[in-house]
Amino acid sequence: MRAFFSSIYIFSALIVTGLCLTCDHCVNLHGHSCETMSSPCKEEEMCVTTLENSTVGNDMQLSVFKGCQKYDPRIPQGIILYRGGPVFFIGYTEYCKEDNCNSGTVTVPAINMTENGLECPACYIKGSYECTEVGTIKCIGNQEQCLEYSGESRRPGAPFEKYEYKGCATTGACDFGPSVLKGFTYRKNLKFTCM
Ligand SMILES: *[C@@H]1O[C@H](CO)[C@@H](O)[C@H](O)[C@H]1NC(C)=O
Ligand SMILES: *[C@@H]1O[C@H](CO)[C@@H](O)[C@H](O)[C@H]1NC(C)=O
Repeated sequence: MRAFFSSIYIFSALIVTGLCLTCDHCVNLHGHSCETMSSPCKEEEMCVTTLENSTVGNDMQLSVFKGCQKYDPRIPQGIILYRGGPVFFIGYTEYCKEDNCNSGTVTVPAINMTENGLECPACYIKGSYECTEVGTIKCIGNQEQCLEYSGESRRPGAPFEKYEYKGCATTGACDFGPSVLKGFTYRKNLKFTCM
């Protein structure tokens, strides 16, 4: 009887260990590549790579995050995109499910630049919660919503500032909200509204 229970115990220990992946971990707030270290995940987590490209005018900031993360079905497969005024934000998340499968270089797939017929009011300001609309912007690819955001946030490696942004956003943007972004972090959210 005891042998029976201990073999059940060993068997379930094997199953549990089998479910926990080992993934590469690293962060770089100033580029799309980073030196990784491998370490174990918690149960139910997968290996993930998230790339962000936050461009305002000529100022392009790239960041990368590798690690363990529970699969979040709200994150759209592929690309999160915001575009309005001088802002072009690209977020790309790739999950995989084998030990250290996120060790390689990940690149953002080509952005679908085809206009989809939707037009949104566009504006952007840093240092204030109210921007002045500068006309409209034509939405592209999977941007099937207009977004208005205002709050305190920061681009990777920069201090927190007041911002307001209006423009096009990926379908579902208001379901997953700003919290899925990693390089672009939020301290205070006044408005995050999709229309
Ligand atoms: C980042 O986004 C800008 C604006 O869309 C684009 O010109 C640039 O090629 C992108 N860079 C990378 C490395 O994805
Ligand atoms: C690109 O976006 C357009 C407009 O939303 C869409 O009709 C088309 O199917 C998309 N192409 C691809 C390859 O996803």
